[in-house]
Amino acid sequence: MKDYKELSRIEFNKQAEKFDTAKNNCYELCQDSYDPANKEIVKEPFKDFLDIGCGTGNTIEYLLKEYPDAHYTGIDLAEKMIEVAKKKIQHDNVEFLVGDAENLPFEDNKYDVIICKESIHHYPNPEKFFKESFRVLKPNGRLIIVDMNCNTVLRLFWNKVLFPYLINMGDCHVFSEAEIKEYYTNHGFKVLNYQTLPKMRFICSGRKVEKEV
Ligand SMILES: C[S@@+](CC[C@H](N)C(=O)[O-])C[C@H]1O[C@@H](n2cnc3c(N)ncnc32)[C@H](O)[C@@H]1O
Repeated sequence: MKDYKELSRIEFNKQAEKFDTAKNNCYELCQDSYDPANKEIVKEPFKDFLDIGCGTGNTIEYLLKEYPDAHYTGIDLAEKMIEVAKKKIQHDNVEFLVGDAENLPFEDNKYDVIICKESIHHYPNPEKFFKESFRVLKPNGRLIIVDMNCNTVLRLFWNKVLFPYLINMGDCHVFSEAEIKEYYTNHGFKVLNYQTLPKMRFICSGRKVEKEV
């Protein structure tokens, strides 16, 4: 089996300097989903915010301008994406670090909201990401995911042929609506909404449900 994480790291280290100005490639599409993601994030007040797979820090850059008193953490596997984010945003309330979505270096119950935008399709073990997100969110905190969305035939082709055999950019899996909702509910979240977005994207939001004791 391919080392998807290493392939993602190599790919995004290569893209880091040009990621924000991407033109005519698949990363240009990431720019269209900042707006719906930001609108979903700010639906509820937050103090501690985590961006998993934060890339060059664009979501944090936007939120910091609007909500300068909140505390922001961005984590990404590719050290060069983090270098670009750190160069762009220097602020006492902001921390960027290199790390893995499937093994988060944060304490339990820390964050009010987590965004994972255009990144989950790179995770070889999405169940670990959901488990970790649940752990680090405060009770009632929200996990918001934005990612690729396409019809069943294309999804099958991408998941079974394109990703494993034809490209080496660290892409693992595009999720159906049913799959993503199942991951949320199987890991203790209540799905709040799922919406398809233009340009083959979706946004899904779920709340960490407090466990009964
Ligand atoms: C397409 S970029 C999206 C960046 C940013 N979220 C945005 O929307 O601009 C995907 C990001 O996910 C990161 N990534 C991939 N696998 C990861 C993992 N296991 N843990 C953390 N970040 C990861 C990549 O390094 C890359 O920066």
